[in-house]
Amino acid sequence: MSNVSPLSSPETIQLFERCVVPNYNRFPVALVRGEGSYVWDSEGNRYLDFFNGWGCNLLGHCPPPVVEAVRDQLGKLIHVPNTWYTELQGRWAEALSARSFGGQAFFCNSGTEANEAAIKLARLSGSSKRRYKIITFEGGFHGRTLGSTTATAQPKYHRGLGPLMAGFVYAPFGDLDAAKGLIDAETAAILIEPIQGEGGVRIPPDGFLKGLRDLADQHELLLIFDEVQTGCGRTGQWFAYQAFGVQPDVMTLAKALCGGLAGGAMLATPAAAKSLLPGMHAATFGGNPLAARAGLATIEMIESQGLLEHAQRLGDLFEKRLRELQSQCDLIREVRVRGVMIGIELSVEGAEAVRACMERRLLINCTNATVLRLLPAMNLAEEQAHEGLDILSDVLKKQAKNHFSS
Ligand SMILES: Cc1ncc(COP(=O)(O)O)c(C=O)c1O
Repeated sequence: MSNVSPLSSPETIQLFERCVVPNYNRFPVALVRGEGSYVWDSEGNRYLDFFNGWGCNLLGHCPPPVVEAVRDQLGKLIHVPNTWYTELQGRWAEALSARSFGGQAFFCNSGTEANEAAIKLARLSGSSKRRYKIITFEGGFHGRTLGSTTATAQPKYHRGLGPLMAGFVYAPFGDLDAAKGLIDAETAAILIEPIQGEGGVRIPPDGFLKGLRDLADQHELLLIFDEVQTGCGRTGQWFAYQAFGVQPDVMTLAKALCGGLAGGAMLATPAAAKSLLPGMHAATFGGNPLAARAGLATIEMIESQGLLEHAQRLGDLFEKRLRELQSQCDLIREVRVRGVMIGIELSVEGAEAVRACMERRLLINCTNATVLRLLPAMNLAEEQAHEGLDILSDVLKKQAKNHFSS
């Protein structure tokens, strides 16, 4: 590759058309470089990224301490399988456990894998009582492997895949009575995102997660929090559940876990973890030295740079500016902010605003048709926050003007 001249964006697109499975909708731009909250395309255009790597690049693109740690580790030991011990994996597990609920870690490579581990753990822990059902919530998202897809209570992701996995039942998000009504003698667990991400940055009503905890305790179910998107500092806490004062038995992590490298984890209380006996589950690359080193460097960077507190300040800044904008722009129905997890519910579909921002070199996302989702880096500078918010405000005000004058 080193002596091949770089392709333009249109040339890269042609290459994809020939050689890459067309299962993604992509913007017609090839990105070549990233630094902090900016990325550059093959043509040299710079974009401000408010949707860093679908939430994976919570520390921005190529965070220097993570890059340095990974470079160093690359020359020492990249991969050894889990038939051996490595100090790095043990230390990584210890660091995550100390910042959450004292659980034990199983490592894998992605969010969906972490959720598959949690699904198997739930079934294994319920197996002596013939319990296998898992309650999940409408609008949730848990990944793309078949178990996680079935756990995802959104019909659009199920189309054409049936028969799906048995044993998942769905309740409306926020409806405690409905969740209670689904519990029977075969129920093993409740699986939920403490804040729904893909579902539109939906924050549960007061007392809902606590109510689920009580139900889980009463019926001896595992309470599993999918913190793949909300975890690792995104909401200004290490984990979103910490702001709700409710502790899970099992938690799944990925996305931002390794500062932009692939990595996933499931944490489980020692009592729950004991159901995963040797031979019952595995991930060949899980917890490899490179991922562990990146994961540890990520935690260290967040703490040494005070980034949880910075994410909270950024959340306040976004909330203030977006509420001001809401008062001036009739397209905005609701603003939902927790740290650097931001949803702007519109009264129209959001695709046009995403396109218009992209033309102004600001990258944002739209989810659930009408919700603009921003997942900026937690080390975004305040001036960059204002720079992007100025563009977004302009775009939405113009769109509102056109919408209401037509
Ligand atoms: C809450 C949640 N769980 C699971 C996943 C799946 O993660 P991955 O794409 O790493 O498999 C996602 C991905 O967006 C997610 O947001």
